[in-house]
Amino acid sequence: MSHISTAPVQRVTIPVLQQWKRDGRRIAMTTAYDAVAARIADPIVDIILVGDSVGNVCLGFDNTLPVSMKMMNHHVEAVARTKPRALLVADMPFLSFHLGAEETIRNAGGFLQRGADAVKLEGGSKRVTTVRALVDCDIPVMGHLGLTPQSVNSMGGFKVQGRTSTDALRLLDDAHRLQDAGCFALVLEGIPSELGARAAESLSIPTIGIGAGAGCSGQVLVLHDLLGLTEGHRPRFVRTYVDGLKLLQDALSRWAADVREGSFPGAQESYQLPESLGELIANWAPPTHSDKP
Ligand code: KIV
Repeated sequence: MSHISTAPVQRVTIPVLQQWKRDGRRIAMTTAYDAVAARIADPIVDIILVGDSVGNVCLGFDNTLPVSMKMMNHHVEAVARTKPRALLVADMPFLSFHLGAEETIRNAGGFLQRGADAVKLEGGSKRVTTVRALVDCDIPVMGHLGLTPQSVNSMGGFKVQGRTSTDALRLLDDAHRLQDAGCFALVLEGIPSELGARAAESLSIPTIGIGAGAGCSGQVLVLHDLLGLTEGHRPRFVRTYVDGLKLLQDALSRWAADVREGSFPGAQESYQLPESLGELIANWAPPTHSDKP
């Protein structure tokens, strides 16, 4: 029996997600940065995020701050070409939504023109005007609160947020301000479970948690983390379902061993000449003249 649990083929839209929130049906979201990952994820999850985490997961940066619109557009296009049935959300990178409404709308609208269904942006009440401007242009926005990686410098590192009374109340207030501004969903990252649950139950829009406890309307994990493809420190909220690195390196080592011992390629991986040409090739002699300069 297969253990693959696939979601129904229904295209996931924002009204569908909002109905699921009302029905109490949990939402599964993961990242994809290219067509291969999108094809792995799409039959299974409800939302695919082209996250700016591409910067540290795939592009070798220490954090997400160096990720540009040019980089994000490249990855959004790759994922969009697979025409996923999951809702496709494109992450607004650092400085793509800070320099005025016009530039923000152009950047976010460009994601939609490339095939995204919605955009995500980090930040609380100071993003309300931006969210309103985007929603006014029919650009659906997912908010992102708590441990927002683009704020790494002001947070003094990747630290759990909302642990003081002021921070906890501010987070709840920000969540409602973003909902009122028109966000269709919120990512809640790196906050105590009780706070995640309180936000989720008090909001009418879905909340997608990552290190925010089980009380959210859904969960998101970076695909490479849950498949065991990332090395080094993994945050406490990551659950790894397969040792992907080991699995793939085992397969690669078997291939390299076959190459080294000469058993790859075999007849089935090789092309054959028509029999009639065999003799011609066997009798061919290398040229004896040299016309090299
Ligand atoms: O960039 C990303 O992958 C994210 C998720 C972790 C929510 O923002």
